[in-house]
Amino acid sequence: MLGPAFLAVAAAASLVLGEATWQPNQVNTRICQWQQLRASVLRDTVYLDGGSLWWQPGFADGSAGRPVNDNNRAGFIYTLNFSTPFNTTQNISTILGNLATGGGDTNNRAPNFEDGALLGNNEEFFLYGGLTQRTAAVVDPPGDSVLCYEKYQYGPVRTFSPNFVDKPLGAGVTRYVAHGGAASAPSENLAWYFSGMRSANFGPIYTKGSANKSNGALYTSDTLITLDMAHQQQEKFSNRTLPKEIPGRANPELVWVPVGQRGILVALGGVVYPDFVNYTGNSANETASQLQSPEFMSTIDIYDVAGDKWYRQTTTGGPGQLTRGCAVVARAQDGSSFNIYYYGGYDGINQDQSFSDDVWVLSLPSFTWVKLASSGVEGRAGHKCVMPYPDQMLVIGGYPSFQGAVPGCLRETIRVFSLSTGKWLDRYDPAVFDNYTVPSAVVEKIGGSGTGGATATTPKPSWGATQLAGIFGAQYPVTKITTYYPYASVGPTNNTNPNVPQPRVESQGGGLPSYLPPVLGVVLGLVFLTMVAVLILLWRRRRLLRGGTVSEVGTEDTNGNRIASWLRGQPTEAKSPTLASSSDYSPVSSTDVDSSIAAPPPTRSIAEMMNTE
Ligand SMILES: *[C@@H]1O[C@H](CO)[C@@H](O)[C@H](O)[C@H]1NC(C)=O
Ligand SMILES: *[C@@H]1O[C@H](CO)[C@@H](O)[C@H](O)[C@H]1NC(C)=O
Ligand SMILES: *[C@@H]1O[C@H](CO)[C@@H](O)[C@H](O)[C@H]1NC(C)=O
Ligand SMILES: *[C@@H]1O[C@H](CO)[C@@H](O)[C@H](O)[C@H]1NC(C)=O
Ligand SMILES: *[C@@H]1O[C@H](CO)[C@@H](O)[C@H](O)[C@H]1NC(C)=O
Ligand SMILES: *[C@@H]1O[C@H](CO)[C@@H](O)[C@H](O)[C@H]1NC(C)=O
Ligand SMILES: *[C@@H]1O[C@H](CO)[C@@H](O)[C@H](O)[C@H]1NC(C)=O
Ligand SMILES: *[C@@H]1O[C@H](CO)[C@@H](O)[C@H](O)[C@H]1NC(C)=O
Ligand SMILES: *[C@@H]1O[C@H](CO)[C@@H](O)[C@H](O)[C@H]1NC(C)=O
Repeated sequence: MLGPAFLAVAAAASLVLGEATWQPNQVNTRICQWQQLRASVLRDTVYLDGGSLWWQPGFADGSAGRPVNDNNRAGFIYTLNFSTPFNTTQNISTILGNLATGGGDTNNRAPNFEDGALLGNNEEFFLYGGLTQRTAAVVDPPGDSVLCYEKYQYGPVRTFSPNFVDKPLGAGVTRYVAHGGAASAPSENLAWYFSGMRSANFGPIYTKGSANKSNGALYTSDTLITLDMAHQQQEKFSNRTLPKEIPGRANPELVWVPVGQRGILVALGGVVYPDFVNYTGNSANETASQLQSPEFMSTIDIYDVAGDKWYRQTTTGGPGQLTRGCAVVARAQDGSSFNIYYYGGYDGINQDQSFSDDVWVLSLPSFTWVKLASSGVEGRAGHKCVMPYPDQMLVIGGYPSFQGAVPGCLRETIRVFSLSTGKWLDRYDPAVFDNYTVPSAVVEKIGGSGTGGATATTPKPSWGATQLAGIFGAQYPVTKITTYYPYASVGPTNNTNPNVPQPRVESQGGGLPSYLPPVLGVVLGLVFLTMVAVLILLWRRRRLLRGGTVSEVGTEDTNGNRIASWLRGQPTEAKSPTLASSSDYSPVSSTDVDSSIAAPPPTRSIAEMMNTE
């Protein structure tokens, strides 16, 4: 009887956020910045994984503390359901759900990855590439397999429930690449990871603070990794060397654009010799970076999926050298233009100077750049953008430039942008959407109107290759593209407003989707069960505390650099006891919290809740 009841309590308790790092007198926490996270949209929800997530503690006296990084020790993937309305200044944590990977500190199944990508279709995604922190406590997962989250079933009917599954990468492919550009094309069941950085010997790579020179991701990777998801459970990865004329780079954006028979990949930006791979935060050769990197925005590399061939195309105008922005593409209603929006980023060599807050549009097929918005309010890099609706873009996470001794916090964890008007919005509401219309600043350059009819249909001065004209001349069968909007709107009940005092039990489950009908019986039951669980867990915590603390290699700040001390994504404060032992759940079986079965939380979260009383 205690078993299932215990799990229910655990699910609520595990939603105390930033749990590894709560401090005495702390009463709340908020997302401060989220560097190099990975994202994938499955139908109505975006899944946010990994990255370096910093929490800003709030104390009882109203002050805010130095941001701390919990290194995702509990092994969560966060979720944002597009049915949830929010405003951009509210506490974003209250609208995020979470999904336990069964990884985190407790085993080597799914350590926290910074950078890399979630590659997927509408049914599943793979946690590919990226950097782990090198620690003595956790053994790295093998280099030749990858974790996949199968959320929905497709293909032949079989017994199915959402599940995390380890899958082999196959011959010739490893997960040892990071800082590449990722794109997914659900309508083709294909996804790609373009270029990026690797280690000298193509072996294990670690976050820069924990890597030594031989396993830092310091060399450009000249490969295109392709994932074919045509058959669920028989997905195939392949690894192709890029042609000589397509140079490797760090953190480009890759977008899949529906033109030609199977679409094209368009690579934007990225730099060589980036400062972010270096422990000191300096570029290995600034001169070379300034010489070579601007070209990645002015001459665009294009891969034709059906023809399996790369092309290059010059553009008009453009933002210059940029990396770590985010990009999405919007199709004019008549298919006469495809407008790629690129937001934020920085030059990749001056991480202590202001980051871009501009939205640039690269309009195809005229290959014309237009600067659409420039607020200069809050530049950021290392964020992700997704399109819940054809006319809206959500910008999620990222980080501001490294100015000052402590990490700066983002004002808005999530920003909302209207692709049609080119304006930032202060809220997202699933009930408010429209068809995409080409913004007037773009229409001025390419002709036609909001609904299409562009008159500039070829690049100036000419196509980079005559075949490109043919590819753009062939309409992609857009009926292959499945959409899942509109989303039913399920607003949070008004009492999730943090300004309103909440009943104690409510705040314990504060991160649960508050639109779930509150069932009084369950709540009262929880009060009782929580008390029981707290007693059990406190007892266990005391045992664990006696067991000593986590030790990590390579986390000492050896050169005293002020940035390095927090930049490396190390949990810097409130070192806490090891997590509950992994014997609490079976690491290889399905751990899908959507179905209400959660991995037990780290024991400290219970203790923290006590602290907040
Ligand atoms: C935001 O919401 C989360 C989840 O409900 C909570 O843990 C956190 O303390 C809240 N932060 C603030 C600043 O209210
Ligand atoms: C998102 O929210 C809607 C409305 O509550 C719900 O029907 C849907 O199942 C949710 N999606 C996921 C993946 O949980
Ligand atoms: C956003 O939400 C916060 C907290 O719920 C509230 O204080 C603020 O007024 C809201 N802003 C807008 C523009 O609705
Ligand atoms: C791709 O293939 C090359 C050549 O075989 C190999 O050196 C490299 O490690 C592979 N890269 C990845 C990411 O699998
Ligand atoms: C650096 O890492 C490599 C590979 O893990 C290891 O073989 C080597 O001993 C390390 N070097 C130092 C100086 O720690
Ligand atoms: C890191 O930056 C230093 C300068 O601060 C430079 O001397 C060194 O070559 C760089 N190392 C790498 C691997 O980029
Ligand atoms: C940096 O790059 C420039 C231009 O490519 C080159 O001339 C110079 O030798 C490089 N410097 C170093 C230290 O590698
Ligand atoms: C979008 O356009 C389609 C066809 O042009 C039309 O049927 C539909 O009503 C439009 N949707 C909205 C939200 O205006
Ligand atoms: C929340 O409050 C607003 C205004 O106070 C009201 O219009 C809205 O219906 C309320 N929503 C819910 C779910 O109670």
